[in-house]
Amino acid sequence: MTTTTTSAGTSAGTLADPVEVMLRLLTPEGKRDPYPLYEKMRAHGAVVSLGGAHVVVTGYAECARALREPDLLSTDAAVQDARMPGWRDHSSWRWLTRNMLFSNDPNHERYRRFFGSAFSARSVAAWQPLVERVADEVVEHVAVLGAGCAVVDLVPEFSYRFAISVIGELLGIPPEERAGMRGIIGDITTALDPIGDLSELERGDSGMDRLADWTTELVRARRARPGSDLTSAFIKASDDSGELSEQELIANLMLLIVAAAEAPQDLLSNMVRLALEHPEHAERLRDEPDSPFAEGFVEETLRYDPAVQALNRVAARDMRFFGEHIAGGTPVTLLIAAGNRDPRRFDRPDVFDPTRPDNQPLTLSGGAHFCLGAPLARMEARTVVPRLLRRFPRMRLADRPTFRDQLVQRGHATLPVVTK
Ligand code: HEM
Repeated sequence: MTTTTTSAGTSAGTLADPVEVMLRLLTPEGKRDPYPLYEKMRAHGAVVSLGGAHVVVTGYAECARALREPDLLSTDAAVQDARMPGWRDHSSWRWLTRNMLFSNDPNHERYRRFFGSAFSARSVAAWQPLVERVADEVVEHVAVLGAGCAVVDLVPEFSYRFAISVIGELLGIPPEERAGMRGIIGDITTALDPIGDLSELERGDSGMDRLADWTTELVRARRARPGSDLTSAFIKASDDSGELSEQELIANLMLLIVAAAEAPQDLLSNMVRLALEHPEHAERLRDEPDSPFAEGFVEETLRYDPAVQALNRVAARDMRFFGEHIAGGTPVTLLIAAGNRDPRRFDRPDVFDPTRPDNQPLTLSGGAHFCLGAPLARMEARTVVPRLLRRFPRMRLADRPTFRDQLVQRGHATLPVVTK
């Protein structure tokens, strides 16, 4: 396969063909530590064409521009029809393409208008007491599990538990059902990774089927007996206005559950691991929980070890992008985790530095699909991680943390610690 490259960095590390770099990125070893492979890809350029069949973007400015480019589409149903024949037999993508993330205008604009204001910075500020209460409960839960120097896996017991409890309180998910949803949510996110053939969607399909049944039942119950939760409010607004079909309502509720559980879980786990690896920063985070330093710690974790590493787009028509010709229909992968380490944008990009000035990682996306939950995710992280570190100043890793075998939604599978 022939490749063409653009100006940025074609010297050092042009060892492998970029197709080979891409294939290595998709191996279990590549997903475990993708960062050296991003540098190998960057050596081929900021915008790399894999023989014209696929374009990969590694630069910060190029990713930022791509996110705001109206002719680079999100993977909606029409895009899937062209790219992945047979996808309609798979419930994962049937449901995904009914949510705002995998839609383009006019549907995207309609969904975003409907759900957007509920998660505004103003709403999120009002949820601070709720988030603090949940944070205290979860830290106490870790204390109970860790008594007597028992090993605690922080991924299920801290990060997931906290993230699902916050969105569970907001959407009205019964507390006793939250822990059991973890496997289902994790399975759904596997449908976002690149696949060789459609059978690889099986895990995502089965997770999606179960969550769809569960969410349909939640909507039925809340419609019959509304509560003070957001699900009841969304049902009422939809029934009153007729703006959403029932399937669109359910699909977007599922998106909210998955998005608010999985990525925050990974952000929190990464923050704790980075704090344990950098005791000097952990001490400051403990001592200055409400400071710009704490905000910087969250942003730097998002930049340095992002919970979402790559985003996919498709060219709507023939176009030129940073000098590269992209034919209509070509998939474009934005390696935002590589963009976050672009040396043209960040000084010493491989150093974890919470005091980094002008730190604007690409991890929460940008443009039309900018993360709806960004203010909530940031507030959650700033609230709960300093509390955990203050409660357990001697906490340490009990074993090597492991990673899930995923690239798009990358995060720890386990993070075993002892708290004393
Ligand atoms: C660390 C935490 C989080 C990360 C890293 C993250 C990341 C992202 C990214 C990268 C996108 C856009 C993807 C694209 O452009 O293709 C996105 C969109 C979205 N996120 Fe988040 N997210 C996080 C937390 C949350 C939370 C807590 C919620 C809950 C409300 C949420 C809800 C959404 C929704 C609904 C969208 C779709 C927005 C749209 O398409 O207009 N996210 N998120």
